Amino acid sequence: MTTSDSVDSAVELILNSNFAIAFTGAGISVESGIPPFRGKDGLWSKYDPNVLDLNNFFLFPVESWKVIKEIFYDFFGSAKPNSAHIALAELEHRKMIKAVITQNIDNLHTIAGSKEVYEFHGNSRMLVCPNCGENYVAAEVDLNEIVPLCNKCHGVLKPDFIFFGESITTLAYQKSVEAAEKADLVIIIGSTGEVTPASMIPTIAKQNGAKIIEINPERSLFTDSVTDVFLQGKATVIMEQIINELKLKV
Ligand code: APR
Repeated sequence: MTTSDSVDSAVELILNSNFAIAFTGAGISVESGIPPFRGKDGLWSKYDPNVLDLNNFFLFPVESWKVIKEIFYDFFGSAKPNSAHIALAELEHRKMIKAVITQNIDNLHTIAGSKEVYEFHGNSRMLVCPNCGENYVAAEVDLNEIVPLCNKCHGVLKPDFIFFGESITTLAYQKSVEAAEKADLVIIIGSTGEVTPASMIPTIAKQNGAKIIEINPERSLFTDSVTDVFLQGKATVIMEQIINELKLKV
């Protein structure tokens, strides 16, 4: 495994694939201004990951909501898709990839134009009442209240994304596994591979014979275990190179 392979080899794999999927992590959104969770300047170096622990949220909703609002609504809210998100939407539009499986909750793939997006950890766009199941659009709820309450039952609303200790949304999980089992190519962008069961998705594809392209400035848990073509670099830089190559070749 060289430290970094060539974009050409990745482009050949994409052109020869029949069922390619993308698997993205927080790293694809870093160049949209959303810090990663881990690594230098990661969110977990500034905030206690416990704010996203389900039991902690129910025990200390006021403290949890204060940090959740700051990170996921005040800060994330203004982020825009970058050229890597847009490149994946273009590849789907050209029928060169079938779906994006993302660990991200920032909605940037959908905003970029991707249609088939499986949100493994849910999405910060919606809030849900754990008590009665009522759903709310986060943008229509006043998050300046100490804790947002359900209009129906006055329960404390929760962002509709997966907390630590919470089971994964079955539909997204099921669609992701089905896609991984069919895939003959996975393009991993910006993930440490440290969080399960999400990080099993590329492994499932690999076990079914898929080739794995990985884009990341750093090596990850995928690099020496499942990756076939490691493109060391930022998501926008590498994806722009891939799109340019493909336009030349198709
Ligand atoms: N382009 C591509 N990758 C990048 C970039 C970039 N510009 N900048 C950083 N990265 C890489 C880092 O090298 C790292 O491998 O993105 C990854 C970010 O790591 P994490 O923040 O741990 O992201 P991820 O692996 O997706 O975390 C999975 O952890 O806390 C949970 O639910 C949360 O979905 C998240 C999950």
